Amino acid sequence: MQLKNDLLIRAAKGEPVERTPVWLMRQAGRILPEYRAVRESLSGFKELVETPEFAAEVTIQPVDILDVDAAIIFSDILVVPEAMGCTYEMVEKRGPWFPNTIRTEADLKKLRVADPHEHLHYVLDAIKVTKKALNGRVPLIGFAGAPWTIMAYMVEGSGSKTFSHARGMLYTNPTLAHQMLRMITDTTIAYLKAQVEAGANLIQIFDSWAGILTPAHYREFSLPYISEICNAIRDVPVTVFAKGAFFALEDFAKLNCETIGLDWNMEVAQSRAQVGPNKTLQGNMDPCLLYSSFDTIQKETIKMLKEFGPQRHIANLGHGVYPDTDPEKVKCFVQTVKEYGEFRS
Ligand code: CP3
Repeated sequence: MQLKNDLLIRAAKGEPVERTPVWLMRQAGRILPEYRAVRESLSGFKELVETPEFAAEVTIQPVDILDVDAAIIFSDILVVPEAMGCTYEMVEKRGPWFPNTIRTEADLKKLRVADPHEHLHYVLDAIKVTKKALNGRVPLIGFAGAPWTIMAYMVEGSGSKTFSHARGMLYTNPTLAHQMLRMITDTTIAYLKAQVEAGANLIQIFDSWAGILTPAHYREFSLPYISEICNAIRDVPVTVFAKGAFFALEDFAKLNCETIGLDWNMEVAQSRAQVGPNKTLQGNMDPCLLYSSFDTIQKETIKMLKEFGPQRHIANLGHGVYPDTDPEKVKCFVQTVKEYGEFRS
């Protein structure tokens, strides 16, 4: 199916665009009352994720309401550990919780490399339903967590400020860590290939906990696995977003991917110099800007667009939009990007 709006795909590939495409990480979710209404009619987050028709509905909401240039499939990075045999619960106001963690060789034996068609069919079905309903309006982004970030949750068993159990394992039992990362990587490659087959137009890899590793550990325990995933997914553009990994930008330049996501700690000009001219950059507004006035949002957004320049940029925040953000402020960010493009000479 031909895309009517393919700005995201062209920008990712480095093809000329008439204006910068814009979408937001975590655009589907609690910022929208329409999302909360669907969510509250169900037993919880997991029912929403596991029911393709509902997942498709909330995936499309931000396209209708916020007027973004891409949809991202409504799911979670934690469906991968679950498919591997490490189930999670989403605890209201507290986040994910895993009843069984993976900390020993015996724990690892309970895991399997998942078959996406068997264990993650609900995500693939959600992609198919969404694609049909979108009817080519905008591209659909598929995603997965980077192996290190998934391992961090499986070892820790919940979110954490330090992820000290997961980071500790890199020192105390690096062999076990590599075995776990191997299984996660194999699952993720098969899963992302299946997402592309189901219709995903671009893939984003979220390494949300990249920034807590030492550069040396990042190069040993995260980068090689991300690199393998990039090498395996070659039919659609790939974006790597590694939060806090400013120290690895020169390594990212060598990855077989099209786009690098920047968080708001990263300087645009310096990042461009480190990544070089051959990749698209995505980002990187501080999500807290959206708490300010419409006027400030417009000014800061235009400043950001000027810093990145008109090509090889996908406008986004530097991380997911915060749940208490006013959707009108998100619309202001989106419209400022779109209108700035119209006035560009
Ligand atoms: O719009 C979108 O971006 C698509 C959906 C999406 C969700 N999670 C839905 C979600 C995406 C891309 C994710 C990715 C994700 N999930 C990441 C990587 C991105 C990042 O933010 O760094 C991570 C680390 C997770 C794990 C996760 N899921 C946490 C820590 C939490 C709890 C904290 C929080 O933000 O609520 C979730 C829950 C979650 N995933 C919600 C949503 C909409 C909130 C659940 C609810 O409705 O109550």
